[in-house]
Amino acid sequence: MSNFQRTLITAALPYANGEIHLGHLAGAYLPADVYARYLRLRGREVLFICGTDEYGVPITLTAEKQGITPQELVDRNHASIKASFEGFGMTFDNFSQTSRAIHTETSQAFFLDLHRRGVLVQKSSEQFYSPTQGRFLADRYIEGTCPQCHSAGARGDQCEKCGSSLNPDELIEPRSVLDNSPLEKRATVHWYLPLDAWQPELESWLATHPEWKENVLNYCRGWFQDGLQPRAATRDLHWGVPVPLPDHEGKVFYVWFDAPIGYISATREWAAAQGEPEAWRRWWQDPESRLVHFIGKDNIVFHAIMFPGMLMHHSEPWVLPDNVPANEFLNLEGNKLSTSRGYAVWLPDFLQRFSADTLRYTLARTLPETKDTNFTWEGLQSRSDNELGNNFGNLINRVFTFAHRYFEGRVPAWTEADLTDLDRAALDEVAACRGRWAERMERFEVRAALDEAFAAGQAGNRYFDESAPFRSRKDDLARCGVSIAVTLQIVRQIVVMLAPVVPFSMTKVWGWLGMKSDLHRGGWTEGLAALPAGRALGVPEILFPRLDPDVIAAEVERLRALTDGLA
Ligand code: MF3
Ligand code: ZN
Repeated sequence: MSNFQRTLITAALPYANGEIHLGHLAGAYLPADVYARYLRLRGREVLFICGTDEYGVPITLTAEKQGITPQELVDRNHASIKASFEGFGMTFDNFSQTSRAIHTETSQAFFLDLHRRGVLVQKSSEQFYSPTQGRFLADRYIEGTCPQCHSAGARGDQCEKCGSSLNPDELIEPRSVLDNSPLEKRATVHWYLPLDAWQPELESWLATHPEWKENVLNYCRGWFQDGLQPRAATRDLHWGVPVPLPDHEGKVFYVWFDAPIGYISATREWAAAQGEPEAWRRWWQDPESRLVHFIGKDNIVFHAIMFPGMLMHHSEPWVLPDNVPANEFLNLEGNKLSTSRGYAVWLPDFLQRFSADTLRYTLARTLPETKDTNFTWEGLQSRSDNELGNNFGNLINRVFTFAHRYFEGRVPAWTEADLTDLDRAALDEVAACRGRWAERMERFEVRAALDEAFAAGQAGNRYFDESAPFRSRKDDLARCGVSIAVTLQIVRQIVVMLAPVVPFSMTKVWGWLGMKSDLHRGGWTEGLAALPAGRALGVPEILFPRLDPDVIAAEVERLRALTDGLA
């Protein structure tokens, strides 16, 4: 357990260029939310920050295709991403946008601080320029003949026909995607982050974090071995945060420069909404604060190297990330996700047919914590029916039904002195699971933590079978009552362990247990106290209904049709 006063949790800002899919959820959002919920459950102070990443070339291209402005596009996508995250149970304290004024202000001030200190390096390079449009063009705005397969219409970043990845210099007869005009090379001057010069400092800082996940440390070691390269902080585009220097018309921040600063902007926005505009400093500049970035593996270099370097070289004393628990990728039915081909499961579609808890649980059981993992619909069905339903749901349903049938819906009378060895052994076993569960959660090992919750569920079911209240109720109602009280106590431990993963269902069970406090704020300690005899219990309902096999089969079929199309 850490000694920090408070934890600032960030989840990668999703691009406002489309919907959230299961890959995003497994990579960053679910682990971040589970961890935030875990810390709140333990009564710790948490601020959980996110928002949409709204600049960059793909956004302008999509907006052009749809015939709307980039701002219209990102506002629309921001609203729908926010809504599906809410449906999924994400508990952000603020979900902001990088196109808001507070972000422009925050990122420009950050840039100017680095610039004034002489930290940024200026370099000139030759880029494609469109004389007819009077602007420099990004790779994806440039088209020409592919040097590999000689088909027309290859883009500056890749040829869709043969799949080769390209840079615009390789294209034969490069032209503008926008008006098909020929292009010329012109010199342009940009500001760079000198990661090469920062490397020794970054290496010694990372050496102080041997506890980070092995996959994250390995990526970092690889980059250090290859030698870090300077990274552009600005580029020639119109959609972005303008570079706040004279003679920099048409230049904006490179999206990877401004986006991480978005975490700070979103915290400032949160503070202002609290009526305490300076409160963000407690989270970002007080050494008692801990910063944890949840991301997918493709974001590691930015969060473990580039952004910490920016924070180190700024004049104010920033908190550096205490951990960057990045996940690997989630595959879908054995194939890589592809948003361009529509090979994905989108969150809003999922939520129309299934519950958020079903998805949260299944993903949490298959999180790509150390290596890529595979999501299958059959796996979802089996986790939902066999684990949520038969293990947890069954135990909960049995004990509440029993209490209503034979004990007037109340916690039966029991005292410590009534407990048998069997009762104690079951309670001890579940308490041990709970201890290990917490250790795992502290280390971001959600899957291993869930193994403990699952084991506690099995222990509870085994105890119910062995203590056999269905038998003792006929000749020893007092003994039967103790079995029910013990099972209820076990159920409450399980509710605490499952709360961060299946919050909607566990909130209900917490209520059925007659708990008045908020499970999700400090429920850990509440869950320890003995359930008082005589307390009225709620009437249970089916928590995890069986999934319809036809609905599952239709989902499998939809994906299969897409992969057949590829072959
Ligand atoms: N939008 C990026 C992605 O989806 C993540 C940005 S994270 C931030 O890969 F820190 F830069 F904001
Ligand atoms: Zn080609």
